[in-house]
Amino acid sequence: MKNRSALITGVTGQDGAHLAEILLEKGYEVHGVKRRTSTISTTRIDHLYREPQDEGSRFSLHYGDVTDSSNMIDLIRRIQPDEIYNLAAQSHVQVSFQTPVYSTQVNALGALNILEATRVLDLQNNIRFYQASSSEMFGASTPPQNEDTPFKPRSPYAVAKLYAYWMTINYREAYDMFAVNGILFNHEGPTRGETFVTRKITRAVARIFLGMQDCLYLGNLEALRDWGYARDYAEGMWLMLQQDTPRDYVLATGEAHTVREFVNVAFEEIGIRLNWEGIGEEELGIDARSGKCLVQIDPRYFRPTDVDSLIGDPARASAELGWRHQTGFKEMVRMMIETDIDLAQRERANGLSGP
Ligand code: NAP
Ligand code: GDD
Repeated sequence: MKNRSALITGVTGQDGAHLAEILLEKGYEVHGVKRRTSTISTTRIDHLYREPQDEGSRFSLHYGDVTDSSNMIDLIRRIQPDEIYNLAAQSHVQVSFQTPVYSTQVNALGALNILEATRVLDLQNNIRFYQASSSEMFGASTPPQNEDTPFKPRSPYAVAKLYAYWMTINYREAYDMFAVNGILFNHEGPTRGETFVTRKITRAVARIFLGMQDCLYLGNLEALRDWGYARDYAEGMWLMLQQDTPRDYVLATGEAHTVREFVNVAFEEIGIRLNWEGIGEEELGIDARSGKCLVQIDPRYFRPTDVDSLIGDPARASAELGWRHQTGFKEMVRMMIETDIDLAQRERANGLSGP
């Protein structure tokens, strides 16, 4: 019997790599779309990849870009996957303020290019489509947020994601396509991009622990986020495409912490308790024992408009998908710190950076 097949855009990213691993474990043939980059971008998926000529390999990579509609048509025509997971995005919210047009081309029109490719190929009823929607779309809406909460986006990233969200619904309604939105709250882990706040913190704490860095510079410490573990969320994406009827789902833990709490917990992992002194941009995180300043505010990390508070209500996913996050907050922070200490030790051994 032929294996089920999936096409993943954004396969080199945090979620794409987890999802590819999960689908391969489930017996899928997995096709990933990878952009041409000047340096190697496949470190998260290298362990999954065997040479294409290697018989039995169920994982292939294809060069592509979601902004190139002809490329999307060509890939979908050749692969004819059972499922498409559109995870490709310019996914950094702060960067979207500096690159609003580009972020819109990728995050909004990228989704449309895929949906339209399935339609012009007349495959809209053969392919199930997952769109990586985001809790960032809720923006200024009061928490807890669920599938019925009004959207009040606060960034070009969120506005572009809303276009893709509504297009996904439109293709479901207009063409009877199995097309769904996963509205995912923040999810992290050891392979999280290093400029997102959680990984930036755990990288810095690991390097401070090893004497390779003196201080961590951050922006808004009061932002409240519902942080889960990325691999749990990738399993939820797959579950959404296995249902009898297409529906949109929130995935979240239901528990939230501020950036400041994340920093405190991360430093506790290396045995440091922080005292916070001063206010606003002058606030400092001081090592309670040594008196050293370990955290400072850098206004460059403030956003023109930020999202204050995201706390998800995953009740629908729990009732209909049987999905629940498996990994707790402190366990995830510990996992990230351990991995980043290993990484920093390897960097030091290779002479990549020193105290
Ligand atoms: P990520 O690590 O930044 O990965 C983004 C992926 O998209 C990378 O593989 C990147 O390729 C690829 N990409 C960017 N522009 C592309 C383009 N024009 N064409 C094709 N591929 C392109 O993000 P993530 O955390 O895994 O998130 C996955 C998706 O879920 C994103 O759409 C994100 O917006 C959404 N989301 C994430 C979260 C979260 O908390 N992680 C929550 C809600 C929604 P390169 O490796 O070449 O850069
Ligand atoms: N990145 C970053 N860097 N954020 C900081 C910093 C810093 O130095 N200091 C404070 N923050 C605050 C941000 O202002 C924001 O309020 C919060 O930390 C989280 O920032 P990010 O980790 O960059 O994530 P995000 O919530 O903006 O976006 C992520 O989650 C979305 C889902 O809600 C991304 O993964 C998006 O792609 C995703 O859709």
